[in-house]
Amino acid sequence: MKKILIKNIKGLIQVGEDIPTVIKGKSMNQLPIIEDAFLAIEHGEVVAYGPMEEWHGITDWRDLEVIDATDKYVMPAFVDAHTHTVFAKSREEEFVDRINGLSYEEIALKGGGILNSARRLGEMTEDELYENAKQRIERMISYGTGALEIKSGYGLSVDNELKMLRVIKRLKESMPIVIKATFLGAHAFPKEFKENHQGYIDLIINEMLPKIEAEGLADYIDVFCERNYFSVEQMEQILIAGQKYGLKPKVHVNQFSILGGIQKAIELHAVSVDHLEEICQEDIDALKKSTTIPTILPSCSHFISIPFGNARWMMENDLPVALASDFNPGTTPSGNLGFVWSLACVKMKMTPEEAFNALTINAAAAMELSETHGRIALGRRSPIVITKELPSLAYIPYAFGDMHIERVII
Ligand code: NIG
Ligand code: FE
Repeated sequence: MKKILIKNIKGLIQVGEDIPTVIKGKSMNQLPIIEDAFLAIEHGEVVAYGPMEEWHGITDWRDLEVIDATDKYVMPAFVDAHTHTVFAKSREEEFVDRINGLSYEEIALKGGGILNSARRLGEMTEDELYENAKQRIERMISYGTGALEIKSGYGLSVDNELKMLRVIKRLKESMPIVIKATFLGAHAFPKEFKENHQGYIDLIINEMLPKIEAEGLADYIDVFCERNYFSVEQMEQILIAGQKYGLKPKVHVNQFSILGGIQKAIELHAVSVDHLEEICQEDIDALKKSTTIPTILPSCSHFISIPFGNARWMMENDLPVALASDFNPGTTPSGNLGFVWSLACVKMKMTPEEAFNALTINAAAAMELSETHGRIALGRRSPIVITKELPSLAYIPYAFGDMHIERVII
């Protein structure tokens, strides 16, 4: 593979040999940067970086691509630790229903929402799902995403959950970025189990999990713990079963209501607890005693008009915060983390630096990629992003909706 030298970089961001694997509280406002820098990559690995004046020239020009990054920033690609990128069709009819006054929860109770997506997914082949998801991921990469978690959860039957997970496995094998798979059979109760919730939970535990393990289809297990979905007790049952198959929890909690799901997930060693639009002091206290990463999804709040997660309160309590897209057809039809960066600044009052740490270092921790992703350091293979010519780094979240990325190197 060829060598790449990027020179005259206006700012080389999130770079260094002793950046911690998780950044908490006040430290989130610090972002290591080398101004007027160079970065050298060989065989996909960082081999040297530093200020331009420390660059000693090139001895071997063979197979070398030189990129001039004058007035441009170079940074590690974003990590998207919570997505539902494999899905059937878009759901803009529900978007219009919401404009006309229905809430997300009301639409779901009418048979829309997750059950709507599950119906449609049942009608699609593995190949169609794969092709659609592949195009979405290519677009996400062009927006600067360099690693991705993808959940199942629109199958809701043994066959269709396995179908989704096989699509994710195929994406893992064929796409150039790292992808991790999360089994979210417990996303909603299918119609047939409306009066028999335990029956569906038994299906997850006794039928789905053994098959998922046999084919090596998942890294994590998720449950949508929420009123009208899965209770804390039901989540516990499912997560404990998942752990027997080696799946660590990464869960949907506190999107609409506070049920105690955060505490339970922490007790079960969740890697991350995600959403957190609603949160209370007990949740904060539990997070402080854990290594679980609180992950906030601002484009979901934006799109379905619910509160934004209280990142400032978390950081005041010396917690780390991660940000992710939640890309899905119902609550977040966008996988653009540049927009998430902007929302985090405008709506959650995170500084550009805090939000960038949340999208890189802490997001990498939220999908256990701290060893490889989220920072630029010697020997690392994290995908990197070269921006367009920009007046400052803060210009990216400031000038929202514009495309600021020129190139992504994987
Ligand atoms: O994270 N809240 C649960 N799951 C998704 C939405 C699923 C859907 O509406 O299709 C979320 O927002
Ligand atoms: Fe989600």
